[in-house]
Amino acid sequence: MDLQAIKQLAFELMGNRRSHVGKEKGNKYYHGERVANLIIKLRKHILPNDDSHDEILTAAAWFHDISNGSDDHGKEGAKKTREVLAKYCSDYEIEEICKIISVHDDRSSKCDLYSDYIRLHQDADHLDHFGTFDIWMQFIYAIQHDHSFDEIIHWFRNTRREEAKHYREELNFEISKKIFDEKNQFVMYFGERLGVEGTGGIWNEDEIARYM
Ligand SMILES: [Fe+2]
Ligand SMILES: [Fe+2]
Repeated sequence: MDLQAIKQLAFELMGNRRSHVGKEKGNKYYHGERVANLIIKLRKHILPNDDSHDEILTAAAWFHDISNGSDDHGKEGAKKTREVLAKYCSDYEIEEICKIISVHDDRSSKCDLYSDYIRLHQDADHLDHFGTFDIWMQFIYAIQHDHSFDEIIHWFRNTRREEAKHYREELNFEISKKIFDEKNQFVMYFGERLGVEGTGGIWNEDEIARYM
């Protein structure tokens, strides 16, 4: 598979596009790039002796959200990817890529039946939305929607804390849950600190005072 040519094509199709109003330019192209890198990292931990699908996993990650914004963006995305990648991949490769894209957003109980490759993709896709990325997204969103600073503090301290429980349950592999916990711990810490500094407080005030 000519990954360089496929990546170039992904950029031509998504690099200058927004999946939703208010998202940054090229958001799904850059998300795909990060997911592809994450998948290979996860694969090395979970299936250390199986690099047979690395190119397929990479290409699927780059294109998985090409139809984001449509009703069933998994199925629509698989259809679109089949068209655009037809001349770049073998029949087997295109089938495997489209299998991943088609069900990547299905996190119902039946995902236990999916292959490890699909489950790897699902975990990397979820993980990319947490941690430092949470902070980046939340501030972009808040500015676009005129949210006050107090509302942002509330989101980090309460809303996201609750949502995180649900997203964690949807992860397939134990190591993904560990990565998630570490990312989430950072975001919770950030939220607490934002709550203090965002109301004119001093973080670690007692500790600082002890040195004076
Ligand atoms: Fe998606
Ligand atoms: Fe995604």
